[in-house]
Amino acid sequence: MRKIRSLQFVLCALATISLLSFQESSAVATKAGGVCTKLGQTSVVSIKKYTCIKSGKKLVWNKGVTVPRPVTKPTPSPTPAQIPAPIPTPTLLRITRVEVQRHNSEADCWSIINGSVYNLTALIIQHPGGNEPIKAACGTDGTVSFLGQHGNQVDQAQELEKL
Ligand code: HEM
Repeated sequence: MRKIRSLQFVLCALATISLLSFQESSAVATKAGGVCTKLGQTSVVSIKKYTCIKSGKKLVWNKGVTVPRPVTKPTPSPTPAQIPAPIPTPTLLRITRVEVQRHNSEADCWSIINGSVYNLTALIIQHPGGNEPIKAACGTDGTVSFLGQHGNQVDQAQELEKL
């Protein structure tokens, strides 16, 4: 009989321990209304943060607040290097002396003056100094002729701009 009683006691003790440990484990699982052990303790589960509060005599997890997910900033893609706009190169038409020589008539008169080619066709009849000096310059380098008359002029460049 004594043995049975002590066995009953042992069983009872075991049941109590298992019950306690069950309560203990349920305290670990955090959920709203679930038992917690320490007042003010917090626990984050998934996206919710629970706080251990006092409800009556019990300590339970509150309903929890949603924790905002950390915003992952997109890594800025490197901005492509600014490509400088191409600088337009002045288009200079290159004319050979051979080409100038082809325009050697009153009707079609080109001449080289100071390294540039001028069409003097219209000047033949307009030139205040007569048509002869101009006709002589057709198809040739007229620089010497031009400078011979107009080289001492301050505005000789202006003179040529009139052409
Ligand atoms: C290729 C050679 C030459 C060129 C391109 C040339 C061009 C010109 C030009 C653009 C003018 C100004 C016309 C105006 O204002 O409307 C001018 C004026 C004149 N040219 Fe010539 N010329 C040349 C040679 C000569 C020569 C050899 C003489 C002299 C024999 C001469 C005598 C004059 C005179 C007297 C004037 C007016 C006054 C002045 O502007 O100086 N030119 N010429």
